[in-house]
Amino acid sequence: MFAAQSLSGGKPEQYAQLAEQARALLAGERDRIANAANLSALVYNAMPQLNWVGFYFYDGNELVVGPFQGLPACVRIPLQRGVCGAAARTRQTQRVDDVHAFPGHIACDSASRSELVVPLYRGDTLVGVFDLDSPVASRFDEDDQRGLEAIAAIFLEASA
Ligand code: SME
Repeated sequence: MFAAQSLSGGKPEQYAQLAEQARALLAGERDRIANAANLSALVYNAMPQLNWVGFYFYDGNELVVGPFQGLPACVRIPLQRGVCGAAARTRQTQRVDDVHAFPGHIACDSASRSELVVPLYRGDTLVGVFDLDSPVASRFDEDDQRGLEAIAAIFLEASA
């Protein structure tokens, strides 16, 4: 049984603890759906002020929703659209303080105010994106970005 361990200390310390929990959770498992599902659940329950945490995977044409926690979401996102598309296209993490001000933002949950999307690449190959939404404006800062990029790297390393 998974026992949740609450995070303590400043943000960098909390992300170090979360990364440790993520490594332990994914250890010995290569299945990317299983790992994406468990990682979404871990992060969603460990961190405050989130309304959606999950994955979109690239099917060779567009991004298709994968395992997540939160309300049902849009299924397919073309690379030309949305915050997710921008992350996949530019290979840069997209940290959006106010999604209403982001041209082309796709509203899946009307409660979302800020968003962070980490692109998942294996070398030059697009795997998908790791997406987090918050009902609070400017929820994500540089520490969050660094911490969640590290979590995304753990997912890529662990999964086939
Ligand atoms: N807001 C995203 C769409 C996915 S949902 O947030 C789950 C975007 O603009 O790409």
